Amino acid sequence: MPETSSDSGLFMFWGFKKMAAVDDMTTESMAIPRPLSIAPMLDWSDRHFRYFFRLISRRVLLYTEMVTTSALLHGDREKLLDYSCEEKPLALQLGGDDPKKLAECVRIARDYDYDEVNLNVGCPSDRVQSGRFGACLMAKPQRVADAVHEMKKVSSIPVTVKHRIGIDGLEGYDDLADFVRIVLEGGCDRFIVHARIARLSGLSPKENRSIPPLRYAQVYRLKNDFPQSLIDINGGVTTLQQVLSHLEHVDGVMVGRAAYGHPYAFSLADQVIFADCAPQKSRGRIIEAMAEYLDRQLTESSTSVHKIINPMLNLFKGKPAARSWRRFLSENIHKSSDPVGLLLDSVKIIPAQVLQEVSTFSTP
Ligand SMILES: Cc1cc2nc3c(=O)[nH]c(=O)nc-3n(C[C@H](O)[C@H](O)[C@H](O)COP(=O)(O)O)c2cc1C
Repeated sequence: MPETSSDSGLFMFWGFKKMAAVDDMTTESMAIPRPLSIAPMLDWSDRHFRYFFRLISRRVLLYTEMVTTSALLHGDREKLLDYSCEEKPLALQLGGDDPKKLAECVRIARDYDYDEVNLNVGCPSDRVQSGRFGACLMAKPQRVADAVHEMKKVSSIPVTVKHRIGIDGLEGYDDLADFVRIVLEGGCDRFIVHARIARLSGLSPKENRSIPPLRYAQVYRLKNDFPQSLIDINGGVTTLQQVLSHLEHVDGVMVGRAAYGHPYAFSLADQVIFADCAPQKSRGRIIEAMAEYLDRQLTESSTSVHKIINPMLNLFKGKPAARSWRRFLSENIHKSSDPVGLLLDSVKIIPAQVLQEVSTFSTP
């Protein structure tokens, strides 16, 4: 079970403790806007990536990778749910279609003090479709509403739904609005809308993230038609300028691939999006912090070095020596008898000015 900390970024690094509510209850959940979040991404948004990203922003809401109900009900719960207190605020994403099983998973997760639980209604993979969950649930809005309703019965944290603007055969704005209206009746606290149709046949999950066109206007229209509901937008966002521009129309923005492709592009998120004046960390400082983390992890657990280093490899994206640094680390770290020393030494490849500089921000 994780050390618990306050949802407030100000308290996050001081380990401020908040006890999880553990008795059976139905307290009204507090749906709060989340202006910027980092997407659930299988094979990416694991606890090491989240720890790393937290060094870039104390404030963004982070999501776990999707955890399926069958994995959680039959697998190693501690391994699937445990995290470090520094990762908060943190949302758990679940995948499943059975309202009772989803509720049981939420009940199990209560002891871990997540800040939100999210249902995946956006994934188009064959494996997920064969389990009848993910994006194909957009055709069953009442089932999604029932799931949300059951999940809310066992927890006081917000229950949110991440979905697409449509799937094959349900591609019009009215279908999307019907889905949101019905799921809202189940008590959904926030909708995170990936602004692309998911093609359930003929496209791979990867293609489904780039080939169907982005239709941001549909998401803006949803917010207009459901002004009392929290609506976040997702898909294709790569800069803080874009985040600000979407925030003129919706309540929040979720960033996926850019968070690992160019993580330092979000180093001013706390200042620009959350009006948090704490200073940004330079890339050099982030590497030092990750070296301390690597040291702790190697002492306390059997985690592979590769899993901890991987999230950092694009830290210098766009900067001189970024590729040689990346190649040096990925080729040598797993062979080294002193990976922490090697990581600290690796910065010699990078010009000192790049290590120390921080981002500046200008609106267009
Ligand atoms: C490697 C990878 C894994 C993903 N895994 C999940 C997942 O577990 N659950 C989910 O809802 N979406 C998943 N997604 C989709 C993202 O959450 C996001 O919706 C999508 O990448 C679009 O946002 P982007 O254009 O900012 O990347 C994944 C995306 C990628 C690239």
